[in-house]
Amino acid sequence: MGCKGPRPGVAVTIAEAINTGEAQLAPTGVEDPRLNAELLLSHVLGRKPLELRLAREVGIPLQSLGRYRALLDSRATRRPLQYVTGLQEFMGLTFEVTPEALVPRLDTEVLVEALLARARQLPDAPIIADIGTGTAVIALTLAHSLPHARLYATDCSPAALALARRNADTLGLAARVSFACGDLLAPLHHWRLEGQVHVLAANLPYIPSGEIDQLAPEVSVHEPRLALDGGPDGLRLIRRLLQGAPAFLRPGGAVGLEIGHDQAEAVCAVLSGADWRDVEVLKDLDGNDRVVMARRPTQQ
Ligand SMILES: C[S@@+](CC[C@H](N)C(=O)[O-])C[C@H]1O[C@@H](n2cnc3c(N)ncnc32)[C@H](O)[C@@H]1O
Repeated sequence: MGCKGPRPGVAVTIAEAINTGEAQLAPTGVEDPRLNAELLLSHVLGRKPLELRLAREVGIPLQSLGRYRALLDSRATRRPLQYVTGLQEFMGLTFEVTPEALVPRLDTEVLVEALLARARQLPDAPIIADIGTGTAVIALTLAHSLPHARLYATDCSPAALALARRNADTLGLAARVSFACGDLLAPLHHWRLEGQVHVLAANLPYIPSGEIDQLAPEVSVHEPRLALDGGPDGLRLIRRLLQGAPAFLRPGGAVGLEIGHDQAEAVCAVLSGADWRDVEVLKDLDGNDRVVMARRPTQQ
């Protein structure tokens, strides 16, 4: 059922538009269709959802109504809300998002908070690398919060890197963040970062290949496989990263990884098979294991 147009001479109110939007999205299986309709209308009108709730009987300009209906049609295909609006907030910053990169997740804030805590104990100008940067949400949030840090960000997807660079420009952080395309840590050789990095961050693909098709269509159909697929057990890229990371970390340098909720034991086993110290597992807001932090020995 489509969102109906206005009857001649009768303005569609905010309340009516949200009701018809909810009715269009509900049968498609979108989670919380009313909230989705509210967020889309609030995006179109440039007003906060709370403002809409306080202005329920206000009429909507016809042009805005047309735009709202187009966005509803797009969301009804189960395209993620953030790809429909093109935006996602992360730790107070606004990021452009496109289907070329993963939609930044709230879970990733756990990793960024842990990295910030480590980086704040470091000298004035820490060197930080973000591997598999996507939208650059990790690199740019760290650059924003650590005004003296120097950031290096890599991704093997040229399209994701183009988006990352746009986000760096928009947020006014491009001067302190370098981007390069390549496989995992390979671009760090180009920057001559061997033994130089204080903190290495990575939210690499960690979903087991066989589980991707069971996820919601927002993820399995619309997000890039390259950003999801972690190989047969989900850890293919994380293992490779941990193998190569010591060559780039300073003595005492830290690595911080986002992981799947059931991967902490396996990742800790990889770390315990090599010379890593202070291994720590952090939980997300739902109480699931989400981040592993570890450190190189200070004497090597
Ligand atoms: C899970 S997404 C994370 C994106 C972003 N860091 C975030 O937290 O939202 C993983 C990213 O790793 C990139 N990637 C996948 N395989 C890679 C590889 N071998 N080398 C470098 N980047 C890779 C993907 O293109 C994708 O952008």
